[in-house]
Amino acid sequence: MSETYTASITAPVNIATLKYWGKRDTNLNLPTNSSISVTLDQSDLKTTTSAMTCSSFTKDRLWLNGEEDLQLSESKRLTQVLANLRLKRKEKEAKDASLTKISDWFIHIVSINNFPTAAGLASSAAGFAALVACVAKLLQLDDDMTELSKIARQGSGSACRSLFGGFVAWEMGEHSDGTDSKAVEVAPLEHWPQMKACILVACADKKDVSSTSGMQLTVKTSDLFQKRITEVVPERFEQMKKSILDKDFELFAELTMKDSNSFHATCLDSYPPIFYMNDTSKKVVRLVHKINAFYGKTIVAYTFDAGPNAVLYYLEENEDKLMTFIYAMFKNLNGWENKYNGDELNKFIKNFEE
Ligand code: DP6
Repeated sequence: MSETYTASITAPVNIATLKYWGKRDTNLNLPTNSSISVTLDQSDLKTTTSAMTCSSFTKDRLWLNGEEDLQLSESKRLTQVLANLRLKRKEKEAKDASLTKISDWFIHIVSINNFPTAAGLASSAAGFAALVACVAKLLQLDDDMTELSKIARQGSGSACRSLFGGFVAWEMGEHSDGTDSKAVEVAPLEHWPQMKACILVACADKKDVSSTSGMQLTVKTSDLFQKRITEVVPERFEQMKKSILDKDFELFAELTMKDSNSFHATCLDSYPPIFYMNDTSKKVVRLVHKINAFYGKTIVAYTFDAGPNAVLYYLEENEDKLMTFIYAMFKNLNGWENKYNGDELNKFIKNFEE
C-alpha cells in the first residue's frame, strides 16, 4: 500500500464586530480597511476538515458537506491556497533532504459545516481557516498562525481571523505584496470569557449577493464608502481594540452596532443598492435598542454580516435579561415569563409592537 499522511482540524466561525468590506487588491485579497472579530467557541458553529495525501492520488479532490466539488481546479482561490501551502512544504523539503517529498502529491479534503453554508454566517471564514490549518498540519509546516493567516486571507478575507480564538484583528497592512496584511490576536477568549454571542437565524437561505461581488460594487459606486475607510474605521479600530482590552462592554457594544449600521449603509449606498437585512433583521435592531433603553444601559449589541441573520453580543450576567425579551418577542414567552415581572414585560411588548 502507498504511504499516506492524514490530518484533521476544526475551525470556528468568527463574526466581525468591525467589518471588512472592500478590497484594494483582488488577486492577493488585500482589504481597504482593518477589521476586528470575535471567534466563537469551538463548541458552537464550526467547520471540521480532514485531509489525506498519498503518492498514488491522481488529482486534488474536495468534498463539501458530503458532496464532491467537481469545480475544484477552476477555483482560483482554492488552487492559490493549496499552491502557497505546497510551496512552503517544498521550501522545507529543500532544507531537509530526509523529508519525504509529499509536496508533489495530490491531496483529498473533506469539509463539513455544522451550520447553513453561505447564509451570511461566515461559512467561508471557518471553511478556509480549517482548510489552511488542516493542510498546514498535513504538510507538517512550522509556520505560526499569523503567517498562515496570510494564506487563509487569499482564500477568503475573513478566514484569516478564524485561525485565532478570542478577539482578533486583521491588520490591513500597507505593502502591495500583502506581506503585512495579517491576523493578530487582540486578546484570547480567557481575557473576557463573560462575552457571549447568540445567533438569530432570520433566514438560512443562500444569500443573493455574495460578499465578494457585493463589496466590489460598494468600492466602485458608494460615496459613503470613502469616508468609511479613511475616517470612520481607522478611528473605530483603535477604540474597539481598547474597549476589548479594558473590557468596556458599553463602548464595545456601541462601536459594534454603529459599525454594522455603517457597513449596511454603504451597501444601501451602492448602485444598484444591496439589501442584506430583511424586516426581521430590522425588528431585531429595534428590539435591541428598546431592551437597552428599558434597562437604562447597553447590555446587548447586534451585528449583521452579508445576510439577514443577527448576531447578538452580551455579557453572560445579562443572559436572562436579554433572552426573556427575545423569547417574548419571537416565541411567545416560552418558559422565560417567570424570570421578570410579567406586567412590566407585557407592557414592554405591547409598547414595542405599537
Ligand atoms: C460582511 O471574507 O466572505 O462578513 O474575501 O471575498 O471571501 P471574501 O469576502 P468575505 O467577506 C466577509 C464580509 C463580512 C465582514 C467581515 O467578516 O469582516
